[in-house]
Amino acid sequence: MSLVSTVKKVVRDRLIARAGGIDLTRLDKVPDSLSWPLQRDGMAPNQRIADVRDREPVHKLTTFLGLEVWVVTGDAEAREVLRDTTSYSTDIRPYMGKSGSATDGDIGGLGFTDPPDHTRLRALLTPEFTMRRLERLRPGIQAIVDRQIDEIVEAAQHSDTVDLVPTFAFPIPFLVICDLLGLPDEKRETFSKLATARFDVTGGGMGTVGAIGGSREFLLAEAARQRTDPGPGLIGQIIREHGDEISDWELGGLADGVFTGGLETSASMLALGTAVLLENRELWNRLIADSTSAVPIVDELLRMLSVVQVSFPRFAKDDVVVAGQAISKGAVVLVSLPAANRDPRASAGDEMDLTRASGSHLAFGYGFHRCVGAELARMELRMAFPTLAARFPEMALAVPSEELEYRALSLVYGVESVPVTLR
Ligand code: HEM
Repeated sequence: MSLVSTVKKVVRDRLIARAGGIDLTRLDKVPDSLSWPLQRDGMAPNQRIADVRDREPVHKLTTFLGLEVWVVTGDAEAREVLRDTTSYSTDIRPYMGKSGSATDGDIGGLGFTDPPDHTRLRALLTPEFTMRRLERLRPGIQAIVDRQIDEIVEAAQHSDTVDLVPTFAFPIPFLVICDLLGLPDEKRETFSKLATARFDVTGGGMGTVGAIGGSREFLLAEAARQRTDPGPGLIGQIIREHGDEISDWELGGLADGVFTGGLETSASMLALGTAVLLENRELWNRLIADSTSAVPIVDELLRMLSVVQVSFPRFAKDDVVVAGQAISKGAVVLVSLPAANRDPRASAGDEMDLTRASGSHLAFGYGFHRCVGAELARMELRMAFPTLAARFPEMALAVPSEELEYRALSLVYGVESVPVTLR
C-alpha cells in the first residue's frame, strides 16, 4: 500500500488518460474540488469536511473529466462501503492499461488487488501477523526503541534541539519492518536510502515516483534471492511454507505492500502522536507513571489523528446505493477516515476521551482490506511512547504545535519535523 505514491500515480495516470495527455504529476495540481477533503487544520480534519459529514455523509465531491467522485464521511456509512465485498473494485490496473492478472501490473500489494487474488495472497500474509508470531518481535522492537533513544541523547550533545523525525519516528518502523521481512543487515543501508527517497515528500512528484521503482525493485530482487536462501523473516517464512503457491513477483509485491503500508503510517503516528502527547502533559505523565496506559492512549491517538486520510479508492462495479444515496457504476468512492473517526454519532468526536477508547475505530480501515499490520503498529506505538516519556520526562516541543510544518494534501498525513528540547 504505497498510499502516498501509488494513489498519486493512479490519480495522475487516470487523469492523464481522461485529460488526453495533460500531465498532473503532483497531487497539488489536482483541482481543489477533488483534493479539499485532504486539507487539515493542524491535527484535525478541516471544518468543511466535518460540516459535510453532519449534513450529507455520502457526498458527491465532483464530476471531473466525466468521472464521478464521492466522499463518505460518516462512521456507519464508511463501514457500509468498506465491508462491501461485491460492489467495488480496488484494482487499479485496468485504469492503467494493464490486464489485471496477478502477474501483470505495477500494483502496490494487497490494497490494490481484488478477490480471488486478494483472498489467496492475504491468506499467505496473515499467519505472519498472529499475536504469537508478533510476540517474537517484541524484544527486537524494544531494542530498536532503546537504540533510537540513545541516538536522541547523542544528537542532543550537538544541538539544543533534536528533531524526532530522523532520530525516532522514521527509524523505528523502518528497522522493525527490516526485521519483520528478514532483510540481511548488510543490505539495510542501501534499503534505507531507497526508503528515504521514496518517502521524501519534498522531492516532488516525479522524484517520488522514480524512487518507488528503487525500493520495489530491491524487494523483488530480495524475494528472488531468498528463494534459494530463505531468511529468518516473513519473506523466508512464506517461501518455506508456501513457496510453490506464490511467484517471486507476487512475493516481492507483498513485501513491498508491507513495507509501504507500514513505514510512513507508523512514522507519522510516532511523530504526530508525540507532538500531541507533549502538549497534553497529563497524558505524558500518565505514560511515565504507568506504561499500560499506552493501550487506551494509543487507540485514541490513532482515532484522533487518522493518518491515512482516505481509504484505497473503491471503483463502483455497478450502480450501488449507500445509505440511501445512489452512486453510478464507474464512480470512485473515497472514505475519509479522519472524518468518519470523529463522527460524534460513533465516538467522542473531536474530544480525546480515554474512557471511551476502543480498538474499533477506522484508523486501520474496516472489512476485507483492513490493515494486516494493525497489531504490529499498536505494539510499536505502545512500546515507543512510554519508553520515550520515561526516559525524557522533561521533553518539550521547541515550537508550539500550530507552528509545526504539516504536510499539505498528502494521502498519509504527517509532519516534516518535530523539534524538541530534552529539558
Ligand atoms: C499506525 C500505522 C498504520 C496505519 C494507520 C495503517 C492504516 C491502514 C489502512 C487504513 C488500511 C486499509 C485501507 C483501506 O481499506 O482502504 C491499511 C491496509 C494495509 N496495511 Fe496498514 N496501517 C498501519 C501500519 C501497517 C503496518 C505496520 C503494516 C505492515 C507491516 C501495514 C500493512 C498493511 C497492508 C499490507 C494493508 C493492505 C491490506 C489489504 O488490502 O488487505 N500497515 N493500513
